[in-house]
Amino acid sequence: MAKALSARLNNLTDDSEVRRLAAASLVNLFDSLYEGAVTIDCAGRITWMNDKYKALIGWNGVESIEGRLIDQVLPNSRLRAVAETGQAELLDVFVVGSRQVVVSRIPLRNEENELIGALGVILYDRLQALRPIVSKFQQMQSELASARQQLAETRRPKYHLSDFVGDSEPARRVRDDAQRAAPRDGAVLLLGETGTGKELLAHAIHAASLRATGPLVSLNAAAIPESLLEAELFGVEPGAYTGAANKARPGKFQLANGGTLFLDEVGDMPLALQPKLLRVLQEGEVEPIGGTRVLPLDVRVIAATSCDLKAMVDAGQFRADLFYRLNVLPIRLPPLRERLEDLPALCAVLLAKVVEGRGASALTVSAEALRRLAGHRWPGNVRELHNVLEQAAARTESHHIDVEHLIGLPNTDGQKVGAGGTVRTLRGAVAAAEKLEIQRALTTTGGVKLQAAKLLGISRAQLYEKLALYGLLSAKTDS
Ligand SMILES: Nc1ncnc2c1ncn2[C@@H]1O[C@H](COP(=O)(O)OP(=O)(O)OP(=O)(O)O)[C@@H](O)[C@H]1O
Ligand SMILES: [Mg+2]
Repeated sequence: MAKALSARLNNLTDDSEVRRLAAASLVNLFDSLYEGAVTIDCAGRITWMNDKYKALIGWNGVESIEGRLIDQVLPNSRLRAVAETGQAELLDVFVVGSRQVVVSRIPLRNEENELIGALGVILYDRLQALRPIVSKFQQMQSELASARQQLAETRRPKYHLSDFVGDSEPARRVRDDAQRAAPRDGAVLLLGETGTGKELLAHAIHAASLRATGPLVSLNAAAIPESLLEAELFGVEPGAYTGAANKARPGKFQLANGGTLFLDEVGDMPLALQPKLLRVLQEGEVEPIGGTRVLPLDVRVIAATSCDLKAMVDAGQFRADLFYRLNVLPIRLPPLRERLEDLPALCAVLLAKVVEGRGASALTVSAEALRRLAGHRWPGNVRELHNVLEQAAARTESHHIDVEHLIGLPNTDGQKVGAGGTVRTLRGAVAAAEKLEIQRALTTTGGVKLQAAKLLGISRAQLYEKLALYGLLSAKTDS
C-alpha cells in the first residue's frame, strides 16, 4: 500500500507523467462535464467523440464515427481551422441541428509542441448558466446601437433651406445668400437678433453644402463655462492635467472633421481663447490640450452671433483678425419686424408644428388676430412668435385663433393688451416684467449676454437660466 502511494507521489514529480495524467483526467472531465466533446487529427478526421455528442447529433451508433471527416459530420465546423492554425477559440456560438450551443475549440499539440489535431467541447449546459450574462450583453449591445444611432442623428442637419419660411424680399435674400454660400467652403458668419433663425440656417447651409454627408457639430460658446470651453473645442490628451481622464477626449473640431462646425454665440468667445481659435482656422490643424500631437483637420466653420461683432472689434472686445477670418461669407438675418408680410406663412408653418406635437387638427389665425400680431415689435422674433402661437393654441377651444387668445402679447410699447378685466397672478406679472426687462437689456447691449447680465445685476449663469425659462435661448428650449 505504502509503496504504491509513494510510487504515485513519485510519478507526480515527473513532469511528463503529470501532463499525461492531467490530460487523461481532463478528457474524463470533458466527457462527464460537457454536453459534448470531439477530437480530430490534423487531416480533419474524427479520432474520438463522446456519447453525449453522438446523441446530440443523432448518431445511431450503427457505424463508427471515428475516421470520418469532421465537416461531413458537423457542417460548418471550425475545428479543422483550429487544428491548422493552432489558434484556440475559447467561446463561440455554434449551430448543431436546430440548437445553438456554446463551444470551445482548443488545438492539441504533442510533446514536441507540434500540432496534432484539435479538441472541441460543447458547453451547452453552461449556456443556461450564461443566460443572464448573455441577455445583459445583448441588452447592452442594443443600447449601444441606439446610442450610436442617436449620436449620429444629432450630427445630421435638422433643417433644410426650404424650412426657412417667408416670401418677403428680405427672406428670399436670406435663402439666396445661403444657397450661394453653401457650396463654397469659406467660413460663414450668420448675423441676426435672437430667434431670427441663425441655427436653422446653419443646419440648412450644411445640408446644402458638399459636406452634407459629413457630421454637423455644434458648440454654443455662451452656454459653456469659460474654464471648460478650451477642452470642448480642441480636445484633451490623456493625463493632460490632474484629474484628466486616461483616454483622449476629442474636441468639437475633431468631431466635426470632414464636416461642419457650428460655432454659436461666437461673440461670447472669451478673448483669451480667440488666438488659439484663429490659429486652428488658419493652419487647418488642432493641438489638443496637454498634447504633443498636432491633428490635421478638414472642417468648415459656420459662426453665428446676435452681437454687433464689428462694434465689439472696435471696442477691443473681439479680435479683429478672428473677425475677418469668420466674416468671409456674412449673411444677415432680418428681424421679424422687417418682414411682417411673412407673418401669415410663418403662422401657418409654426401652427402646423404646434398641432403636430399634440396630434390635434389644423389651426388657423383670424384676420384680426393677424393684425394684432403685425402690431407687435417681436424682440424675440420667430421664436417668440412660435411661443405666442403655442400659448394661443392652448387657449382656443376651436380650430381658430382669434384676438382674445392672444392674451398677454406685449404690444409695441411693451404694454400688455387684451387682458381685459382679468387679473394675473403676481407670479405671472413678475415673470412678464422680468422677461421684458431681460429683452430690453439684450437690446441695449446689442445681444452681449455678459453685459446684459451686468446691467440686470445678475450672473451670466442666472441670465441663461432665465433665457431658457422664457424661451429666449435656443430652438431646443422652445420646441
Ligand atoms: N424663417 C423661419 N421659418 C421658419 N421657422 C423659423 C424661421 N426662423 C426661425 N424659425 C424658428 O424659430 C425658432 C428660433 O430659430 P433659431 O433657433 O434658428 O434662432 P437663432 O437665431 O439661432 O436664435 P438665438 O440667437 O436666440 O440662438 C426655431 O424654432 C426655428 O425653427
Ligand atoms: Mg441660436
